[in-house]
Amino acid sequence: MTIENQSDAMKLANDIQMAMITKPALTMLEVFLPSYVTDEINTHIDNVRDNAKSFSHELVGQIKSNEKSAQLDMDFKHKPVLGLKRLLEGFALSYLNYQGIVEAKIDCCSMWSVHSYEGDYNPLHDHGVRTDMGMSCILYLKVPPQIEKLPGSAEDFVKGGLKLNLNGASGSTDGFTFFSWGINGSADIKRLKPVQESFVKPEVGKLLMFPNWLKHAVSPFYGDGERRTLSANFEIETKQAPILADTKVLAQTPTKESNEITGAPV
Ligand SMILES: [Fe+2]
Repeated sequence: MTIENQSDAMKLANDIQMAMITKPALTMLEVFLPSYVTDEINTHIDNVRDNAKSFSHELVGQIKSNEKSAQLDMDFKHKPVLGLKRLLEGFALSYLNYQGIVEAKIDCCSMWSVHSYEGDYNPLHDHGVRTDMGMSCILYLKVPPQIEKLPGSAEDFVKGGLKLNLNGASGSTDGFTFFSWGINGSADIKRLKPVQESFVKPEVGKLLMFPNWLKHAVSPFYGDGERRTLSANFEIETKQAPILADTKVLAQTPTKESNEITGAPV
């Protein structure tokens, strides 16, 4: 093999196959529900809110700053709640299918709404269920405008990643959900260890589904408005074990142009 000039290098590059392989650490399902679905759920919650049972004795949320602050049980005997239970169980099955599990008994065993106001927050926690395998979800139903205008939407993410700047008391994660699945810190990231945390911006209709062991927290927000979410837990029984597949993306061998961009040696 002789590489004497750029043309030799380019020819060799064309004959080499490269792939970037990512090992999974966590898989989340993101769903966007249409507004007519979230409208129906919100209307139902508004109708039953005054008479719904508190669920706060089962939850760690510090939802207490306003007289309207509440964590309420959602009763499956109501038709819209039963419909949502079935929809969410379908999403859970899709999630499991992607993990290689095709046969599973999935039961959405609890569902509750969280009505947060200025100063309310949720400390870092996970969710317990009675089965070994379990899942949980968060559906954002109402988002105050001061949170809505912050960067970090799913659309921003597609446009080029999410770069949150917490410096300068920016308030850029006020009302955001924080997820953590490891202990890597900023020094580890500089050593090519992967990030193990993320902040998620609440967006009406966005639903996140994840394994129930995943730690999460909610930052407080300031100003008027209600931040409303719905959460649910799922108990799962299956004889199958999940196969967490690698992600493999074909990569290009370095060309002169890409080396110039990255400054890598030819
Ligand atoms: Fe939670």
